[in-house]
Amino acid sequence: MKTLVLYATKYGGTEEVAKTIADNCDADMVNIEDADLINLDRYTTVIFGSPLYVGKIRKDLKEFMLNQIHKLSSKSLHLFITRGMKSPTIDEIIEDNIPEYQNILQTAIDFGGSFDFNKMNLIDSLIIKTVNLDLAALDENENLDEKVSSFIGKLAHKY
Ligand SMILES: Cc1cc2nc3c(=O)[nH]c(=O)nc-3n(C[C@H](O)[C@H](O)[C@H](O)COP(=O)(O)O)c2cc1C
Repeated sequence: MKTLVLYATKYGGTEEVAKTIADNCDADMVNIEDADLINLDRYTTVIFGSPLYVGKIRKDLKEFMLNQIHKLSSKSLHLFITRGMKSPTIDEIIEDNIPEYQNILQTAIDFGGSFDFNKMNLIDSLIIKTVNLDLAALDENENLDEKVSSFIGKLAHKY
C-alpha cells in the first residue's frame, strides 16, 4: 500500500502542505511538473493538492487528473486545496473544476493559503486588484500540523 502526494504550486505554499502530508503518511511526493516520472501502478492511494487561482485549480494538475482518470479511478483518491478565501465551498470547487471526480474522491478538504507579496509577479498583483481578492480574509496556515492530522485521520478510515 503506497501513497502518492501529487501537487501543483505557484509560490510554494501548496508544496509546504504537500510535504507535511507526505511526511506524516510516509508517502512519495511529486510536483506535477515532474508527472512524466510517475508510475501510477506503484500506488494504491493518491492525494492531489492544488492552490486556487481565480477560482480554478492548476491547469496541469487538472489535465493529468482527466487524462489518467481510468487508471486513477481504481485507487483511493483524495484532494486538498490551498486558498485565500472562504467561499465557494470545496464541493462547489470540485463541481466547477473537476466534475468527473465528484463521485470518486473519497476525501476533500481545504487548507488556508500563504501569501508573500515580495514573491508575487506583476500579473498576479494586477489580477488580485482586478478580481478584488480579499487578502485580509487569507486564512494563514498557522496550525498546519493540526489540519494535516485531521485530514490524515479522515483519510485513514478510507484506505
Ligand atoms: C493571482 C491570485 C489569484 C488567487 N485567486 C484565489 C481565488 O480565486 N480563491 C482563493 O480562495 N484564493 C486565491 N488566491 C490565493 C491562493 O490560492 C493562495 O495564496 C495559495 O496558498 C497559493 O498557493 P501556492 O503558494 O502553492 O501557489 C489567489 C492568489 C493569487 C496570487
